[in-house]
Amino acid sequence: SIAQNSVVLQADSAKITISRHIYGHFAEHLGRCIYDGFYVGENNTKIPNTNGVRNDLVEALRKLKIPNLRWPGGCFADTYHWKDGIGPKDKRPSMVNTWWGGVTENNSFGTHDFLNMCELLGTEPYLAGNIGSGTVEELREWVQYVNFSGKSPMSDLRRENGRDKPWKVKFWGVGNEAWGCGGNMKPEYYTDLYRKYATFMVDWDNTGGLFRIASGANSADYAWTETLMKNIPINMLSGVALHHYSVIDWNKKGASTGFDEKQYFTTMKRATFMDTLVVKHSAIMDKYDPSKRVALVVDEWGGWYDVEPGTNPGFLYQQNTMRDAMIAGVTLNIFHNHADRVRMANLAQAVNVLQSVILTEGDKMLLTPTYHVMEMYNVHQDAKLIPITLKSNDYVFEGEKLAAVSASASIDSLGRTHISLVNIDAKKDQEITIDLKGAKFSSLSGRILSSAKLQDYNSFSNPDKIKPQAFKGATLKGNSLQVKMPPFSVVVLELK
Ligand code: AHR
Repeated sequence: SIAQNSVVLQADSAKITISRHIYGHFAEHLGRCIYDGFYVGENNTKIPNTNGVRNDLVEALRKLKIPNLRWPGGCFADTYHWKDGIGPKDKRPSMVNTWWGGVTENNSFGTHDFLNMCELLGTEPYLAGNIGSGTVEELREWVQYVNFSGKSPMSDLRRENGRDKPWKVKFWGVGNEAWGCGGNMKPEYYTDLYRKYATFMVDWDNTGGLFRIASGANSADYAWTETLMKNIPINMLSGVALHHYSVIDWNKKGASTGFDEKQYFTTMKRATFMDTLVVKHSAIMDKYDPSKRVALVVDEWGGWYDVEPGTNPGFLYQQNTMRDAMIAGVTLNIFHNHADRVRMANLAQAVNVLQSVILTEGDKMLLTPTYHVMEMYNVHQDAKLIPITLKSNDYVFEGEKLAAVSASASIDSLGRTHISLVNIDAKKDQEITIDLKGAKFSSLSGRILSSAKLQDYNSFSNPDKIKPQAFKGATLKGNSLQVKMPPFSVVVLELK
């Protein structure tokens, strides 16, 4: 193909930090995410575990360096009453998980289980409070229960339940999808509720403030963001959420593995639309918050397809192919390039649900292509964003166009420059010239994720079919890099 793609690195302008929290994950009481996913039970003798949490999964997620984990939902959060999930497990009441399959939730995985698991994973918890069906008092008490070191009814109860020190949870969601499953509210009503609930979420130990996140817009609902920013005082707000899924059509999502190029192209159109969303929601935020104190928190994103044949439709279990690797690669590049405003995000969802990084089956576990992209990219966590100018060839399908190449770059605390590149074109190689603008490097290395077919995935019988390989398609010539990428591939380069 013609070498039209070019990337210019403005290393002199690297000022903004790419928050590691962009690499957050999401664990909802949904299908096999918690039960039979993260948590297999303390008495499980077949699957090695620590307090009921799978050891293999802990090891894999630690390697991924997940910075935060959102829990317990999602839609589930606005039906969840945290006091049902503390104390002796045999005494905890059961409930019906109305959103997800109508299954019985026995509350055996509750607040202690989750927060202790976060410690095991080395990740920060992000708790989603129940605004839809819970009281102000309930949320106020939850904050006290998990965060207060002094003497109080809730911190005493925590001690009775075996935990002396508070967990110091910083990230708090004030409801979820308030416009939908969180209560079908109008934005004006929600912002009033937000102000009320947020008032009683006390920073008990004076840790410098809780990071309170308002339930945000559904995709392109800009009016929602406008109302939030207009009606909530900035000093009560740390983050505004945004949910956007790469879904072809909510009534006809298509199979996760058996898709054609038309479906692939549409998925990528939806995924790359994230850039427009971030730009437009940020522009609204800029009006009310020009100094960018409030973060845009994309706390649900990813591909959403039909469930795997034969599985519970309420469990949202799907496979993960090279298409998902493309979504992950371009989305993370978008987040990096808007690191000034996007400072936190959560891929939905970590295990056995939508665009998962891990799938389990009995004692078996596999890492999906999405896992590998997030692992290759984690070198950007907390590094300084290098602004780039990108010129890309078109990926053309039936007369429609998308940019074939997506890119972002950063420089880390050790002075290493990393460049992540995605070629989303389903058929064509891409040659990319990268202008390093006078920066001198003596060593170049890289890794690539690719496969023979877009529809390829890791299965329990062939779990390592897709995994990162050493990349030999880049050459360093003075001030420039010449890169050749195969179709639907992700590359991360390191320059020293
Ligand atoms: O991730 C699945 C669901 O999608 C979440 O529970 C909800 O917030 C969203 O609609």
